[in-house]
Amino acid sequence: MIELGVNIDHVATVRQARQTTEPDPVWAAAAAELGGADGITVHLREDRRHIQDRDVRILREAVQAKLNLEMACEPEIVRIACEIVPEQATLVPEKRQEITTEGGLDVLGNLAKIKKVVEKLKSKGIFVSLFLDPDLKQIEAGKETDADAVELHTGTYSLATTSVNRDAELVKLTNAGKLVTQLGFRLHGGHGLTYHNVIPVAHIPNMFELNIGHSIIARALMVGLKDAVAEMKRIIN
Ligand code: PXP
Repeated sequence: MIELGVNIDHVATVRQARQTTEPDPVWAAAAAELGGADGITVHLREDRRHIQDRDVRILREAVQAKLNLEMACEPEIVRIACEIVPEQATLVPEKRQEITTEGGLDVLGNLAKIKKVVEKLKSKGIFVSLFLDPDLKQIEAGKETDADAVELHTGTYSLATTSVNRDAELVKLTNAGKLVTQLGFRLHGGHGLTYHNVIPVAHIPNMFELNIGHSIIARALMVGLKDAVAEMKRIIN
């Protein structure tokens, strides 16, 4: 069965729009778990545009499923991760002006830095995943770190507007997934996945975990978070 990590950043985005206390992502985590989420994913960004330090601290206590912290390899965030000790950390690149994470990590260009962060997180017992494009060279470089998993960036697949392009991206993801598994990493995927495009990604051999945010939270506005999560869980399996 594929595990579903529900990214609840957007719940915090709504709260931050009014700089108030609701909706509380901690409540959202509980609702997501009631719907069958296997993990709760949050991204503590350096600019704190949605998730706040307080959220991560309380989620650490409240989440019964796995807590997955998406994070940049920046000293302040690494320090917080080492204090909070989520079950899993997913290392992502971060740019201040981006609307959402735009690409995978450049492991080739930042090997020493990433290696050091992986080592630090693993010394705390945190399971470490690298968010990578389906690029075989980056995945091979990822092996130079001691990371446990690779989350393949499904954004280009998700944005493809023709079936030819979508199929080509799916081939890339499938080949990348093969290499990820051969190298001994656990295989994760995520970004831009929806109720309509997720099934082929869920069929990639050895897919272990999918992290999905926007589409689930969007549907939750209409049907409630518990039902939105339950429906996604049903579809991916
Ligand atoms: N995985 C990673 C590494 C991400 O950065 C994000 C976005 O925060 C997601 C998955 C979820 O993407 P989406 O919100 O498009 O489902």
